[in-house]
Amino acid sequence: MTDLDAIPATALPLAARSPGKCILFGEHAVVHGRAELLLAIDLPVQIGISSSKRSSLNGDTAAPETHAYFHSALERLWAGGDPVDLHVTSRVPRAAGLGSSAAFSAALAAGLSAARGGVSRVGLAERAFAVERGAQGVGSPGDTAAVVAGGYVSVNGPGDAELFRLSEGTGKWTVRRVRDPSWSWVVAYSGIPRSTASAVRAVGLRLAESDGVELLDQFHRVAEAGIRAVQAEDRAEVGRLLDENQTLLVRVGVSHPRLEALLAASRPAVVGGKLTGAGAGGSVVVLPMPGRELEAARRIARAGGLPFVVRPEPLGASIVTNPDAEVEPETSAS
Ligand code: MEV
Repeated sequence: MTDLDAIPATALPLAARSPGKCILFGEHAVVHGRAELLLAIDLPVQIGISSSKRSSLNGDTAAPETHAYFHSALERLWAGGDPVDLHVTSRVPRAAGLGSSAAFSAALAAGLSAARGGVSRVGLAERAFAVERGAQGVGSPGDTAAVVAGGYVSVNGPGDAELFRLSEGTGKWTVRRVRDPSWSWVVAYSGIPRSTASAVRAVGLRLAESDGVELLDQFHRVAEAGIRAVQAEDRAEVGRLLDENQTLLVRVGVSHPRLEALLAASRPAVVGGKLTGAGAGGSVVVLPMPGRELEAARRIARAGGLPFVVRPEPLGASIVTNPDAEVEPETSAS
């Protein structure tokens, strides 16, 4: 396994930060052990953590019970700890498929682990997954692994150095580094929030039908080919495979007319695109033709989406050494 930086011991108050993520190939199929490719994106979530008389999140003292991810983190990583006040700023839209819950889970796991003596990078990947999975009840470690590792990562697929091996029940996932082809991507939120857990459950039912295994094999084949095409910097082939992956996502029932409209609007400026994340609303990701990122974003904005031109964020979840440099908020909490 490759050594990524550990999270160092740090006394409270501290700030921790995590990138968001987008999924380029293989969402849903990864829950069933198939290959996935993800990208940590330069839209961060930052959490300031300080000791307090009463635990709260952006002033909400009910949050330790009502905010599923905060609750899950306190239960798993802070048993017996003093109350903590969280101050969260985020550039990742919530419930949009762009990793707000993975980034919140990873940043909070990094911060609480730092306050308790630090943790290895592999340990952080395990903890961030435990926090997210505990809150969501279903899902794979793909999202949290990507935001903990930073950059491009493959799960259960080809790639370079092995980063983490993660498991939950009978599920097993191997996470590998994938080389960055130095492309910009455009992600865009449809404005339709969705629940990852309900989409994962609905797809699970669809995949239990007679053609389910064949569909999973097709997802796997497309994701493996997509990872190889990214490593080979073959933009046209990646675009073709993004479209092919979208056709499979339509077949398992997680596209939405608004997502199809955003993809169609971007078409003249991109080589391919698909929904990203759980679907059923949420966001799309498109790969622009070289130099046409802003045109793709403009076309999507005109069709009613909220676009972001994104680059890979190579630094995974970490302790912020200059916490005064807060992220410009997009939303006030994860
Ligand atoms: C959600 O971002 C990705 C899914 O594959 C669920 C998961 O992997 O946990 C739909």
